[in-house]
Amino acid sequence: MANKLTYSKGIFHYADELPHTGSQISLGEGNTPTIPLKRLGEHIGLPNLYAKLESSNPTGSYKDRVAAMSISLAVDAGKLGWIATSSGNAGTSLAAYANRAGLPGFLVVVPNIPREKLLPILGLGNARVMKVSGIGDKGDAKSETSIFDTVQSAADKYGLYLGVTAHKFNDQGMRGADTISYELDDAGFDQSVVYVPTGGGGLASAICRGFKTRNSKNRVVVAQPAGCSPIASYLQGDINQPAITNCDTKISGLQLPSPPDGGLAADYIRKSDGWGTTALDDETFASQHLLSRMEGIFVEPASAISLAAVINDRKNGRLKPSDTVVLILTATGIKDLNSVEEIVTPPNKIDANDLPKAINSWTLDL
Ligand SMILES: Cc1ncc(COP(=O)(O)O)c(C=O)c1O
Repeated sequence: MANKLTYSKGIFHYADELPHTGSQISLGEGNTPTIPLKRLGEHIGLPNLYAKLESSNPTGSYKDRVAAMSISLAVDAGKLGWIATSSGNAGTSLAAYANRAGLPGFLVVVPNIPREKLLPILGLGNARVMKVSGIGDKGDAKSETSIFDTVQSAADKYGLYLGVTAHKFNDQGMRGADTISYELDDAGFDQSVVYVPTGGGGLASAICRGFKTRNSKNRVVVAQPAGCSPIASYLQGDINQPAITNCDTKISGLQLPSPPDGGLAADYIRKSDGWGTTALDDETFASQHLLSRMEGIFVEPASAISLAAVINDRKNGRLKPSDTVVLILTATGIKDLNSVEEIVTPPNKIDANDLPKAINSWTLDL
């Protein structure tokens, strides 16, 4: 007698709460762990601190949820291919999920894409990849908008699925990210403060929408680099629209001066009774190392900005010790190793005969 097989449906566990799709292209994304950060929480005066590890998705970032939804919709619509822009994570996710559906893609990546993000995309092999100047760390609002326009027109002209991970371009695909909130709601998180690393505003909007759908009363905070904070600064009332001219931050993935979902995210954040907080690049790198050293969680700098923002809000009194706080740790640190390489000391190479002495000298420091 055949055993009943159980297998992961990924985000389609929530099929009833997502746009209908017959394809359900999944790599088992989602259902990511939410874990308490006891040591770190006590260290910064927030004993109820948690992290949702989106780094444990199949390609290492939350974008897998969006790719699962987007590629499924592309297949349902009979598209012959997809097109998108990416700082690296979305491109990897789209390439992986599209391979499962046999759909080729065209991908515009930022010129300064970290090697660790580019190589998996090339290895997955289904996308024609172009580095295009004008977006990413040397980009400005005008060139960024014009590149988005070109990609959108190409999608229309050639009948491609527009896979850009922003509501403005791919609202139905972004619904995949709403499942982060469904999972937090199912895990009992209500009345907590959820910190979201934010660039274009798509993720923060999806998280707010997911909580709203569930009538879950979590407050959502956008965490942005101080050198590129159009949404946070707009929420703080420092600028009168969620857009700036140029970015000055090294944090890959969060370099969008004119965020496509800026207005949408700001509206959602206000309705959730949340706010925007900024952190300096150095504070973000320091938070990346704190997460590694105190909790064994290795994330990329873009993810660690959530912790940097929490630390700043604890210092300025916005967060109280009694608050339950959740960090959305959007992607693994293996995707961007520059910040680590800059601060670590490479290991010495020694002869096997010298090994006992080396171990002995290490034990003297214990
Ligand atoms: C790791 C990581 N975190 C957060 C974000 C921000 O998402 P959004 O642009 O939707 O605000 C990105 C976007 O690329 C990202 O790669």
